[in-house]
Amino acid sequence: MVRKILKYGEPILEQAAGPVTEFDTPELHELIADMWETMYASKGVGLAAPQIGIAKRISVIDTSVGEDESKKVVIINPEILSKEGSQTGEEGCLSIPGFREPLTRANKVTVRAQDEKGEAIELDGEELLARAFQHEIDHLNGILFIAHLSALKRDIIRRKIKKLQKTGEWD
Ligand code: NI
Repeated sequence: MVRKILKYGEPILEQAAGPVTEFDTPELHELIADMWETMYASKGVGLAAPQIGIAKRISVIDTSVGEDESKKVVIINPEILSKEGSQTGEEGCLSIPGFREPLTRANKVTVRAQDEKGEAIELDGEELLARAFQHEIDHLNGILFIAHLSALKRDIIRRKIKKLQKTGEWD
């Protein structure tokens, strides 16, 4: 089922999500299936559970945006073990549609997480995948990509969004 993606301004997007403690349950599988469906419906590269109103530490990532099954990654209770190098590129977010900004991130990261069955997994990501890991794990900590921008840039975006909220174009 495609769920509604919450937009910037919803408090849950800026709150840290709680850990998943029960694995391999029908509820968890259904939630993750919904996250894939919702992400693909918006042609995203990643989606975190808080973006659909679920305060749990779960993210899904597919850097091929549905083109290559082998690129699908589910990370539950993830943490970044190490970061290396840097990359600068345009970044956006399904919760902040219409706004993309250049952002510098680590170019290579190693992530430790659990899979849907609760098994520990360790994943390496470079370039776009590394960016997605950092962006999605930020979501689980209540951090949106605009938090990494300069105060000036962030204020410009906030002001534009406020206007959209007033005219009902942001819900
Ligand atoms: Ni995002």
